Amino acid sequence: MRLDKLLEQEKLGSRRKVKALIRSKQVRVDGRIILDESLNVDATLQEIFVGTKKIQHKTHVYYMLNKPQGVVTAVKDAHYQTVIDLLDESDQRIGLYPIGRLDRDTEGLLLITDNGQLGYQLLLPHKKVSKRYEVIVNAELTTADCAAFAQGIVFSDGTKCKKAELTILSSNKDKSHVYLDITEGKFHQVKKMFLSVDKKVIYLKRLSMGPIKLDTSLALGEYRSLNQEELQSLLPYFTAHKKREERVT
Ligand code: URA
Repeated sequence: MRLDKLLEQEKLGSRRKVKALIRSKQVRVDGRIILDESLNVDATLQEIFVGTKKIQHKTHVYYMLNKPQGVVTAVKDAHYQTVIDLLDESDQRIGLYPIGRLDRDTEGLLLITDNGQLGYQLLLPHKKVSKRYEVIVNAELTTADCAAFAQGIVFSDGTKCKKAELTILSSNKDKSHVYLDITEGKFHQVKKMFLSVDKKVIYLKRLSMGPIKLDTSLALGEYRSLNQEELQSLLPYFTAHKKREERVT
C-alpha cells in the first residue's frame, strides 16, 4: 500500500497533511526517513514510525500455494477451478491475485497476495528474480543441452532467452529428470526452452521463486501464510524508491 494512503487510513490527517508530514522528514520506514509518499510499504513487514508513533496497521496477506494440476492461475474463470477458489472462504478477500502464472498442467509454488505492488516488483524483468523448476522430459539430456541452456536458448521464432542453468538429476533415452533455474518469465517459457532442444516437457513443478521455497509439507492444493522469515526475505522487493530515501544518522 502507498505510504500516504496507509497514514491517511491510520487517521494521521488528510492526504495533504500526510504529505506535509512526509516532507517534513517525520516518517521513517525501517530506520530510513522517507520522502516519497508513493513508496510501497507494509506495516506487517516493516517498522513504520511517524515521529515516535509506531504504525501497527496490518495491511496485506501473503500466501504460498502448492498448486495442483487442473487448476488455472486466474482470479476468475468460466470453466475451471482457479487458484483463488482453493483458498478457504474466510481467506478470500478482494484484490487477491496470483504473482506470475503457472500453466494449468504445472504444479508447485504460487504466491498469492493482495499487495499488487509487490507482485509487480517480483515480475519486473530487470529484477531477474530466479525461479527453480523440477522438470521431466521425454528424452535424453546431455552436457551439450546444459551448455545450450547456459549459453541462452533461442525459440523457433527467434526470441532469445537469458542464460539458464540445467542440472541433470537422471537421464536415459526415454526420460530425463532435471532442475532448471531461470531468471525470466516468458509465456510457456520452460516448455518452449525444451522444445527448442527437441524435447517435450511431461511434468513441470515450480520449486522456488526468488527467496521463497515451496514448503514440501504442503500437499498439492494446500496453502499457508508466509512466515516472518519469508516475509523479511521479500523486503528487498519493497524498496523500489531508494533514491528518495535518506538514512537516519
Ligand atoms: N514455464 C512453462 O512453460 N509453464 C509454466 O507453467 C511455467 C513456466
